[in-house]
Amino acid sequence: MKFDTIIRNGTIITATDIFRGDIGIKKGKINKIGISLDEDGDITIDATGKYIFPGGIDPHTHLDMPFGGTFSSDDFETGTIAAACGGTTTIVDFAVQPKGANLKETASIWREKAEGKAVIDYGIHMNITNMDDEILNEIPLMIKDGYPSFKVFMTYEGMRVDDGILFKTLKQVNESGGLTCVHAENFHIIKCNVERLLNEGKIEPKYHAISRGPLVEGEAVGRAIKIAKMAEASLYIVHNTCKEAVDEIARAREEEYPIMGETCTQYLLLSEDEYFKDGFEGAKCVMSPPLRNKENFKYLWKAIRNNTLQVVATDHCPFFMKQKELGKESFDKIPNGAPGIELRMALLYTYGVLNKEISVNKFVEVTSTNAAKIYGMYPKKGTIAVGSDADLVIFDPKKEVDITSEKLHENVDYTPYEGFKLKGFPEVTLSRGEIIANKGEFVGKIGRGEFLRRNSPIIL
Ligand code: URP
Ligand code: ZN
Ligand code: ZN
Repeated sequence: MKFDTIIRNGTIITATDIFRGDIGIKKGKINKIGISLDEDGDITIDATGKYIFPGGIDPHTHLDMPFGGTFSSDDFETGTIAAACGGTTTIVDFAVQPKGANLKETASIWREKAEGKAVIDYGIHMNITNMDDEILNEIPLMIKDGYPSFKVFMTYEGMRVDDGILFKTLKQVNESGGLTCVHAENFHIIKCNVERLLNEGKIEPKYHAISRGPLVEGEAVGRAIKIAKMAEASLYIVHNTCKEAVDEIARAREEEYPIMGETCTQYLLLSEDEYFKDGFEGAKCVMSPPLRNKENFKYLWKAIRNNTLQVVATDHCPFFMKQKELGKESFDKIPNGAPGIELRMALLYTYGVLNKEISVNKFVEVTSTNAAKIYGMYPKKGTIAVGSDADLVIFDPKKEVDITSEKLHENVDYTPYEGFKLKGFPEVTLSRGEIIANKGEFVGKIGRGEFLRRNSPIIL
């Protein structure tokens, strides 16, 4: 037997293991793992001195997403090329339900955005913004069809749902075998603060952060958890930023409630200081929830280490500075979101593993394995095992990179990580056995990415 591809002599690292060996790939799957395998491959990759990780899974992206009168600037082509170059081989993107559309229609709109464009495999979360009996009845059908995760916003005028709808969603999704995700911030308090600040003539980007402090998030996280308890449902809280939020999740988990949480690269590495830069610079990091003070970094790392948070995602939602300028005269009109899809793996390796915040196994767990489990893709995705998709990153731990936005493939004119230094970067990315990125350049075929029909979640 001959493999299609054999990767020789790499250090293979999963969420639980580390050993030196070879990986034989056939028909897009991992066929054999062992030491000095006898068989040859049509293609041989020498991974001596390199790490081999499961391809990254980013379960929180917003490609081609309507927001604040514009669209996020990466579509499924540019966004997934950037992901591939940075070692991410799977995303789960949020399909936002337009007014008047049911969930099936919403899923079709998102599938159309992705088809013929995506270069890596993708799942779709259903982002419910309007609820009635038709939508409620569609939930079990969507789960059967491979869309087992549903998200609601507790804030954002026009997209948010109230506590009653959150309760109904949690109950129905849970009873149907799915998972509800929530963006937790207190809409009413934000609204009061925004009105007051603008009335006082405080229009600059920094007031975005001031209008939605840590308690605004912590209160909503606590409330969402209590509503999940009342609904007897599991819950996943997206993009946690601060102690106030993490403490609520930790308490619920200690009480053995099925509550899970995510943070994002930016909340571990960037602080509210970004908002105090000159001129309109702060707009680059206008996102919700906003960046917090540096004290929170240590709580977030600790929460990752002790499994209070299971996933580090990106919430990739880029806008060009020209788009950000929609809010030049009023911070509440700045489209919310920032880029991050391309650098997540390398940033977390340098600032997480090398800074001794997390082990290299934990790195794999939070960048890939846990998302695969929680979002119903395991063991097809998220690990290195015989039978799994050959979604792999050959990572050069010695490669030094100074980050600058010109080097990146994200379709946006800045990166919030400009000037950051990296040690370690993905050298080759394989998706279902195909080399799709090599030394930071995309070498795959546009549109090769496949829609992932996902299974029921595993609660971690
Ligand atoms: O600011 C953000 N996070 N924009 C994307 C939408 C969301 O809230 O996740
Ligand atoms: Zn959000
Ligand atoms: Zn988001």
